[in-house]
Amino acid sequence: MEDAKEEIRARLAVEDVVGQYIELKRAGRNFKGHSPWGTDRTPSFMVSPDKGIWHDFSSNKGGDIFTFVMEMEGCTFREALEKLARQAGVELKRYSVDDRKQAAHKQRIRDCLELATRYFQFCLTKNKVVMRYVFYERNLNKKTVENFRIGYAPKSGNALVNFLKKRGFTAREMEDAGLLNRFGGDLFKGRMTVPLMDVTGNVIGFTGRIIEKDDNSPKYLNTPETILYNKGRHIFGLSQAKDAIRRTDFVVVVEGNMDVISSHQAGVNQAVATAGTAMTEMHLKSFARLTKDIRLAYDGDDAGVRAAERAISMASKFGIYLSVIDDYHGCKDADELIQKDPKLWQEAVENYRPALEWLLEKYVAKYNLKTEKGFQEYATEAKRLIDQIDPEDTVLREKYERIVAERLGISLEAFRAKKVIQPEKKKLKKTNVVKTTTIESKAEKNLAALAQSGKVDLGDFEVKKFDEDELSFMFDEQYGKWNGNDLQREADDLIKKVTNERKDLERRELEDQIRKAEEAGDEKLEEELMLKLNKILREK
Ligand code: UTP
Ligand code: MN
Repeated sequence: MEDAKEEIRARLAVEDVVGQYIELKRAGRNFKGHSPWGTDRTPSFMVSPDKGIWHDFSSNKGGDIFTFVMEMEGCTFREALEKLARQAGVELKRYSVDDRKQAAHKQRIRDCLELATRYFQFCLTKNKVVMRYVFYERNLNKKTVENFRIGYAPKSGNALVNFLKKRGFTAREMEDAGLLNRFGGDLFKGRMTVPLMDVTGNVIGFTGRIIEKDDNSPKYLNTPETILYNKGRHIFGLSQAKDAIRRTDFVVVVEGNMDVISSHQAGVNQAVATAGTAMTEMHLKSFARLTKDIRLAYDGDDAGVRAAERAISMASKFGIYLSVIDDYHGCKDADELIQKDPKLWQEAVENYRPALEWLLEKYVAKYNLKTEKGFQEYATEAKRLIDQIDPEDTVLREKYERIVAERLGISLEAFRAKKVIQPEKKKLKKTNVVKTTTIESKAEKNLAALAQSGKVDLGDFEVKKFDEDELSFMFDEQYGKWNGNDLQREADDLIKKVTNERKDLERRELEDQIRKAEEAGDEKLEEELMLKLNKILREK
């Protein structure tokens, strides 16, 4: 690992790596350029080829090629290492044969998704109805459609699968790319497609929006989690937004992918979206690498409030300024507001309020302070919230303690002395992780529903626990009319699927730990985890 790092360093000139992002001019033995972070009038960014380092005098940041790429791409050390290794033609040696196979497989899947993207883009141009939908109903322009690589997945046959097959991709590769439905056909049919991209712009999956209204299928369909697409980590629009985020030093987090797209078209290029309102710690960390000014533009409904509440404790931990944008002029989301008038959205993102202040106001509106009960509940909720502020941030704490104490008409001391029990935080986070994956897994739920019905034989396979009423409802809805043979066949299929999903989950968790060990510089732990990971991959 150190070897690879040194080898890469030796092969790549620092000025070439930096030069891919910033225009550099020679200045004696060194190079100079404008800071990518500040608005320096005279060049304040220096590169020293002799020492292989860079330093930015306007932001006081500095480092080597790896840290530079991390800063510019907003990526982890591992990702920077891989990127530069590719450029330098250095093979990351500590990879075992299996890892190399895995890397090659990953590349095939990337190629497969890239080709699928182009195919969908092509199909869009051939379909007048969808063109009308994209350009007139959604009001997107050509530049936006190109930038976000919007396409169309044909409705009939298994157009994509047939196309990819002709181009030499196997069913396994398409499956691993997340492009197949459970019958091995096209997952996306009759949908406007929007590629999900990683931070450098590689396509890692899709989301598809239905075009013709249809009560049976969901409005949006996403690729399932794959070796490339991790829902809890993914940030939609980041590859298109990161330059603007860095330049203007703030990010706007909206709820839907279409909101991101419209926002960019309206000139607010700092917009990104996480999947739903489920902002995770990983998301926040990714943002924090680019900016500390995070503005949430979720709906003002309960989901939005919960998202803000959840993000507050994390934000305080990472030194993030969390704020809320909620001035939608009665529109239901950013997209609708932009359709009304892009200017209103541009103003809205500048009209942001500290998340704490906003939440406290929501609480005031929620509880009737005139009643004893409302008074108590408000006090409790407010205290709970304020207790999440980093204890060392005494100034911020006092600011909000005062606001609440005044509102309640009590002394600052009395409010401070109030004891509240925090909902178990650590546990909450863990169950959250498990919850998202179980919620995501339809297969787990379906299988549990089948198991509960007692109409199939699962051997000693263990199913996950869900609410019994929900399962019996699901069973009636989905399988009510099926005969015994079909039910058993479905159960057998689901067992296979669930087994794979569970393995994938285990693998992803390991990969996560490896990345953490790597970031912490714990090479021994890393080795150990790599061995474990290899074992899992071999079993597959
Ligand atoms: P919305 O229903 O608010 O959709 O869901 P939207 O973004 O306004 O979509 P348009 O404008 O009608 O096209 C918000 C987000 O929840 C996810 C999507 O990411 C969507 O952007 N979602 C919604 C799904 O994943 N599946 C669904 O069936 C619906
Ligand atoms: Mn919308």
